[in-house]
Amino acid sequence: MRLIEVRNPDEAKTVAADLIQTYRPRVFGAATGATPELLYRELVDRRALDPSTTVCLLDEYIGLSTNHPQRYRHVIERQLATALGLSVVSPDVDADDLARACCAYDTMLDEVGGIDVQILGIGRNGHIAFNEPGTLFETATHVVELAATTRADNARFFVTDERPPTHAITQGIASIRRARHVILIATGRAKADAVAAMLDGPISTSVPATALRDHANVVVIADCEALAARAVTNHQRCVTTCPT
Ligand code: PGA
Repeated sequence: MRLIEVRNPDEAKTVAADLIQTYRPRVFGAATGATPELLYRELVDRRALDPSTTVCLLDEYIGLSTNHPQRYRHVIERQLATALGLSVVSPDVDADDLARACCAYDTMLDEVGGIDVQILGIGRNGHIAFNEPGTLFETATHVVELAATTRADNARFFVTDERPPTHAITQGIASIRRARHVILIATGRAKADAVAAMLDGPISTSVPATALRDHANVVVIADCEALAARAVTNHQRCVTTCPT
């Protein structure tokens, strides 16, 4: 796991966009959430992805109407794909047989050639995609019941009288680990405990992001706030480069 320490989310998005341009992905794995929004704007501004690029969603809610603006397919279309003319593939959350839809999605990821670059955020409970603590690292794409903290965190994306869905289809940890390159971006104090556990704690299913530690090509881009809970010795460079 290579760590790149940055001062703030703005620097994080620049470093991530530079890396993506180096990797020149044909198949791009897109995460949703607040963290990658700046990056997607940057990729659009730079026209950094070729129109032939396929975008694969990391996860998708179950139970939202097909035109709901918080469907992750629509979010990624708005933030990235439409402006660059990219095609998007996502799990079929409207299927009658969701277990079959999960298998079909892993097959589809293989058929498009596998993900070249997967963007990830991290949950404050250490989740990656919707793989909540306790998920086995061997898990393929599957239906998941969202943790209470995840639903609380995501409530901000929904209008006030609306509750986030209880379930989603998520790429499994095994699916994510098949990506050739992973770029995990963590910014803000709320992520500090999860980031410290991911980087320095034991590899354990209780912190799903630790499943990435033995992946050959993972870059973690983290800002000072997200690194604030690391032991001082690990954190020295960041302390010296960040204003207090
Ligand atoms: P966030 O979510 O980018 O909205 O903080 C990250 C995640 O839950 O993976």
